[in-house]
Amino acid sequence: MTTLSGKVALITGGTSGIGKATAIALAQAGAKVVVAGRRQIEGEETIRQIQAMGGEGFAVSADVSKEADVQMLIEKIMTHYGRLDIAFNNAGVEQDPTPLTEQTEATYDRIMDINVKGVWLSLKHEIPALLKSGGGAIVNTSSVLGLVGGAMVPIYTASKHAVEGLTKSLALEYAKQGIRVNAVSPGPIQTEMFDRLSQANPEAIEQLIAGQPMGRMGTPEEVANAVLWLCSDASSFVTGQSIAVDGGIVAQ
Ligand SMILES: NC(=O)c1ccc[n+]([C@@H]2O[C@H](COP(=O)([O-])OP(=O)(O)OC[C@H]3O[C@@H](n4cnc5c(N)ncnc54)[C@H](OP(=O)(O)O)[C@@H]3O)[C@@H](O)[C@H]2O)c1
Repeated sequence: MTTLSGKVALITGGTSGIGKATAIALAQAGAKVVVAGRRQIEGEETIRQIQAMGGEGFAVSADVSKEADVQMLIEKIMTHYGRLDIAFNNAGVEQDPTPLTEQTEATYDRIMDINVKGVWLSLKHEIPALLKSGGGAIVNTSSVLGLVGGAMVPIYTASKHAVEGLTKSLALEYAKQGIRVNAVSPGPIQTEMFDRLSQANPEAIEQLIAGQPMGRMGTPEEVANAVLWLCSDASSFVTGQSIAVDGGIVAQ
């Protein structure tokens, strides 16, 4: 049984989907969890579910693309718990598949601001708190599109390749200081994000699932289990890695 007893964990994008399932999994393993996202009510609902299971934590409304918000988030954690041991940098947004020539500068800026700058800002402010706590574990949410190309979604694909680069670079920078930095790279996972993409492009999504080696989508809980392992001492010699939780997609 993995135990995170006594640890404090931050989950960005913990208001739904993979982040919410991971907040619940980390709390079940004994961590105190702080859930961040822009939606306050959904964040509080994640915490309500954790408290109903006997867990502990609180929600903070924060936009990871704004440095003042990320700074405020880490300050709240340090003021309340005095430590930070685990960070799951998971907040992210999708790209609607469109031909490159029709994509706009506004789309580029929005995706890069949240998926890349948001992870970089989170790392920047988490690292001092983790060092102050004696080290810890960081997991960033990449995607199978951080490992391979994706036609019609080049901005999202580039953003997740950047997350892979941030993960490896930070893993090397902090390897001797007791901070491990890894990534999870999910394939298609049944979340609000996937629902939005399916509604906009039902045929493309059907084809994508049909081409899946396991012939099905993954669940947020299946990703959460990999994150739990990467956050725990069971993965104590693992850093700078990206674990595909994808039903075999990138093995093809
Ligand atoms: N579902 C998939 O198939 C799949 C596959 C590969 C990778 N991923 C990645 O998995 C991560 C989680 O996505 P999901 O599938 O669980 O979808 P989701 O349910 O839409 O979750 C996205 C999360 O990101 C948060 N978020 C978005 N922009 C934010 C911002 N500016 N500041 C703070 N939080 C923000 C959202 O919270 P608020 O709306 O409350 O801000 C929400 O909690 C994303 O990084 C996504 O790229 C998903």
